[in-house]
Order: sequence, then structure tokens, then C-alpha cells
Amino acid sequence: MSVIGWRTTVLAAAAIAGAATGASAQLSPGEQRGRALALANCARCHAIDKVSPSPLSLAPPFRTLHRRYPVETLDEALAEGIVTGHPSMPEFRLEPDQIGDFIAFLKSLER
Ligand code: HEC
Repeated sequence: MSVIGWRTTVLAAAAIAGAATGASAQLSPGEQRGRALALANCARCHAIDKVSPSPLSLAPPFRTLHRRYPVETLDEALAEGIVTGHPSMPEFRLEPDQIGDFIAFLKSLER
């Protein structure tokens, strides 16, 4: 197979995968792991995509966090447990490698 043919095949496959799985197909593996963490732990209250309103209207959609502070600054909070003072948000703690993935995912919402 020629190089051009191979690349076209890969691009077509990526386009099909993108249509099937939505935005997550454009994410790196780390970003996808971060998204999975958000989906499992945060999505019942926070919007974790680029368009939806949060299921719990009080909870800021994750795509808006970077307007308030650089999302990197959440790393300490994620390691120590986010405590926003809001009783409906459970305390939550991540391992260091999960924090990197999670922040990478948050950053992916900015592009
Ligand atoms: C049960 C609902 C609920 C879940 C689950 C939840 N949150 Fe929240 N979160 C909230 C609410 C409500 C607020 C707004 C709190 C406030 O403004 O006092 C909030 C606020 C936040 C903020 C903004 C804090 C600030 O002061 O800027 C961050 C960051 C955040 N949540 C991260 C997370 C992460 C990460 C997860 C998943 C690990 C998560 N939340 C899961 C309800 C939730």
C-alpha cells in the first residue's frame, strides 16, 4: 500500500471512530482516562462536555472552570480532596497519575 493510501485509510478510520464515539475520539489516551474519571465521579452534577448544561445547575460545567483559574491549579485540590464547602459535593481524592490525566482532560475542553 502506498503511503498516501495508508494515511487516507487511517484518516477515514479516525473519522468513523469520531462519528461513533463523539468528542472523546479526539482525546489522547491520558485525556480519555481523565474523561472516564470525570464521567464516573463528577458527571452526575457537572457538565463534562462542551455544550451541555450541568445536571445540577449549581455545579459549574467543567468547560467553564478555566475562566475562573488555570485548571492546573486544581492539582493540589484534587490530591488533597476538593472541598468546595458545598454539602452536595462529595469529597474526592485522586492519585498523582490520575490528576495528570484529569487536568489534561479539563484542558481538552479549552480547545
Ligand atoms: C453531588 C454533586 C457533585 C458532584 C458529584 C461533583 N460536584 Fe463539583 N461541585 C458541585 C457543586 C454544587 C459545586 C458548586 C459549589 C459552590 O459553588 O459552592 C461544585 C463545584 C466544583 C468546582 C468549583 C470549585 C470552585 O470554587 O471553583 C470544582 C473544581 C469541582 N466542583 C470539581 C468536581 C470534580 C473534579 C468532581 C468529580 C471528581 C465533582 N466536582 C463532583 C457538585 C458536585
